Amino acid sequence: MSETQGSDRNLSRRRWYIGAIYGLQAMMGAALAIPAAVYLLFPPKLKKEDHWVETADLAKLTPGTPEEVVFRRDRVDGWKVSSEKASAWVVKKNDAEVIAFSPQCTHLGCAFRWEARTKTFLCPCHTSNFSLDGKVVDGPAPRPLDQYQVKIEGTKVLLGPIRVSPEA
Ligand code: FES
Repeated sequence: MSETQGSDRNLSRRRWYIGAIYGLQAMMGAALAIPAAVYLLFPPKLKKEDHWVETADLAKLTPGTPEEVVFRRDRVDGWKVSSEKASAWVVKKNDAEVIAFSPQCTHLGCAFRWEARTKTFLCPCHTSNFSLDGKVVDGPAPRPLDQYQVKIEGTKVLLGPIRVSPEA
C-alpha cells in the first residue's frame, strides 16, 4: 500500500466520522425539537364547559326528598382526559325543576348528609346546617351550597359544571 492510498483511506474515514457526528447531532436536535413543536402547535384541550352527565331518572325521584347520586365524569387536565367518580345531592322540586348540590360543605369542604328528622343538610365537621334549597341555616359555613348546572331531557337529569355560590 502506497503512502497516498493510506492517506486517502484516513481522509475518507475522518469524513465518515464527521458525518456520523453531524447525523447524531441532527437526531438529538430532532428529538428535542419535535416534542417542543407539538407542544407549541397543538394546544392542550380546554375544559369543556358544556359537558353534561346523565345522573338520575326524574320519574324515580321523590319531590322534596334529596337523593345522593354517584356518577362518573371526565376530567380534562391539559392533554390528559381521565374518568373520575363524583356525586351530588339531587332535589326534585317538581317535574320540570331539579336542583343538584355539590357534596362538599362550603365551610371547609367536608361531606354533608341529609337529615330527614330536621329536614336539613348537616355537615358533621362543624355542624353547619343547610336548608333544602341550600341556604345556610346554622353554623360557620359562609355561603349557600354550591350547585351543579342542571338540564332535564325527557326523564333524564343531566348535570353540568359546578357553579360556586356567592357569599351570603
Ligand atoms: S366543614 Fe362543614 S361546617 Fe366546617
